[in-house]
Amino acid sequence: MRLTVEAGGLTLQNPTILAAGILGTTGASLKRVASMGAGAVVTKSIGVEPRYGHPNPSMIKLECGYINAMGLPNPSYREFLQELEVARQAGVPVIASIFGANEAEFREVAEGLPGASAYELNVSCPHAKGYGMQLGTDPALVEAVTRAVKGAVDVPVWVKLTPNVTDITAIGRAAQDGGADAVVAINTVKAMTIDIDSGYPILGNISGGLSGPAIKPIAVKCVYELYEALDIPVIGVGGISNWADAVEFLMAGASAVEIGSAVYDGLEVFASVSMGLSDYLERKNMKLEDLVGLSHRVV
Ligand code: DOR
Repeated sequence: MRLTVEAGGLTLQNPTILAAGILGTTGASLKRVASMGAGAVVTKSIGVEPRYGHPNPSMIKLECGYINAMGLPNPSYREFLQELEVARQAGVPVIASIFGANEAEFREVAEGLPGASAYELNVSCPHAKGYGMQLGTDPALVEAVTRAVKGAVDVPVWVKLTPNVTDITAIGRAAQDGGADAVVAINTVKAMTIDIDSGYPILGNISGGLSGPAIKPIAVKCVYELYEALDIPVIGVGGISNWADAVEFLMAGASAVEIGSAVYDGLEVFASVSMGLSDYLERKNMKLEDLVGLSHRVV
């Protein structure tokens, strides 16, 4: 069964995409993920200046997923250029995740990192002061940042949204008004854990963002709402670890899905999601396009 899909201005051989943040810091690792079957790859978020990120521990494994507070560590766009160059040999679209404190910084990174197939604007990190949710929870800022990058590049611009808001559709609309080609939902959900012997919060940064299976139903609901509210495609992300999860996101309205935490259990996840999707479509005698938003049409 054919899995080629048009999503947010890109043509993908299959609808699985490596999510930002995991295995996205080097060109070699991005190429490796592509070779394992991902339809596209997203880089780690890149900014204007090098950042070491938050103090350790910066990642905790729970039964239901992971909590991270990496703190946007990255070598700056100047240093990352060479990695992007390598990643471009991957044979699949390479989407550069970028962040900044304001429109000017977003524009500087996008212009300084040419050659990406698309840009994913990270306005949604739940724990990096000045760089994440302060922007991503304010519709006017989201619109301004999106417009600034749209005006600076001639490839698609996606905007990654935070679930840590009362109404995600208001932020999605702002991205759309700014000219976004797609929205990506969702970034991690604000979370923390405490060591009960000492009473200390476990993360070096005290709080972080939850990913993995625990947030899947939250993400599905966000995708469902965004699909209904917007005219641009929605890319789904949040706790997808098998083909059935992917079907659920497509039915909610996702045109493609990003896979993050599940990558820690093996890079086979991309090929197995594609294979399972293809079998499902064959069994149901459906095309991939028939699945996108199906849940909106059955009720
Ligand atoms: O959970 C997240 N962690 N979301 C982001 O956008 C950035 C990342 C980090 O680097 O802390």
